[in-house]
Amino acid sequence: GVILFNEGQAGEGPDDRRVLLNGTLGAPTVDIPVVGTTFAVGEELAAAGTTATLTTKTESDPHRRTRNVLAESRWGDPERVVMLGAHLDSVTDGPGINDNGSGTAGVLETALGASVLPTRNRLRFAFWGAEELGLLGSQHYVSTLPAAERAKIKLYLNFDMIASPNHIFGIYDGDDSDRVGAPAGPPGSDRIEKLFESYFTALDLPYKGTDFTGRSDYGPFIQAGIPAGGLFTGAEGIKTEEEAAAFGGEAGVAYDKCYHQRCDTIANVNDRALGVNTGAIATAAFVYAYARTLPGG
Ligand code: PHE
Ligand code: ZN
Ligand code: ZN
Ligand code: ZN
Repeated sequence: GVILFNEGQAGEGPDDRRVLLNGTLGAPTVDIPVVGTTFAVGEELAAAGTTATLTTKTESDPHRRTRNVLAESRWGDPERVVMLGAHLDSVTDGPGINDNGSGTAGVLETALGASVLPTRNRLRFAFWGAEELGLLGSQHYVSTLPAAERAKIKLYLNFDMIASPNHIFGIYDGDDSDRVGAPAGPPGSDRIEKLFESYFTALDLPYKGTDFTGRSDYGPFIQAGIPAGGLFTGAEGIKTEEEAAAFGGEAGVAYDKCYHQRCDTIANVNDRALGVNTGAIATAAFVYAYARTLPGG
């Protein structure tokens, strides 16, 4: 399977910090060597059951550089880009496995699956840096795109926290029909919401709208007028009685009680939610990869 590493660190002692990282989809939990805040990955760590020590340097560099990682399919019309993204960084307080190893895993699975398929439209995958510092990676990307390049992006799909332990199935509310008063997405975002709804309906699963609060990497895209959508299973918010009745789990408890904490490890991931949402990501990617008309034209 794919082992997923999230940039970030979980503090303990000043010099030799052991950070639990994790794999996805049945991969083993690993504890691996790291220098600075970039994890060095050995091949052997991919083997089931392996463990190594992870060490981070403690002095933090306020000027350190971070990166977005972008990948694009070789097929499809380069003038019609379908873009998917997830942030790769975590907060410094924890390893960031649900936030946002989960979204990263879902997008990565889809990217790997897409690599051999001859699509009509171009698929572009973004793994954002520095989301937790204020959407820095996605903001940089959108703001430095020439207008002609920006116009080629026909929609953006965002996946930030898709496997919360006490999850709901949240779909970004593109038309604001679900919660009046919250900002709707740019025109076309309602179509994206409806596509995700049809996926959950096909599986006889519940879903609900979740607001575009501006708290994740879709923010710069909707500000640029690019139709957007995506999935979210809940962060520090508290699950209501109605939600517990619809989705199961525990009312009165946070969707993710380890949000931005040291305990956001592999144990903090709901595998079923991850699987369901990964299917939704793949479905949306491929529907839009072959569509003649896209939400953004
Ligand atoms: N972007 C927030 C974070 O990474 C989580 C979040 C996602 C909150 C979507 C609200 C909506 O911490
Ligand atoms: Zn976060
Ligand atoms: Zn996040
Ligand atoms: Zn809606």
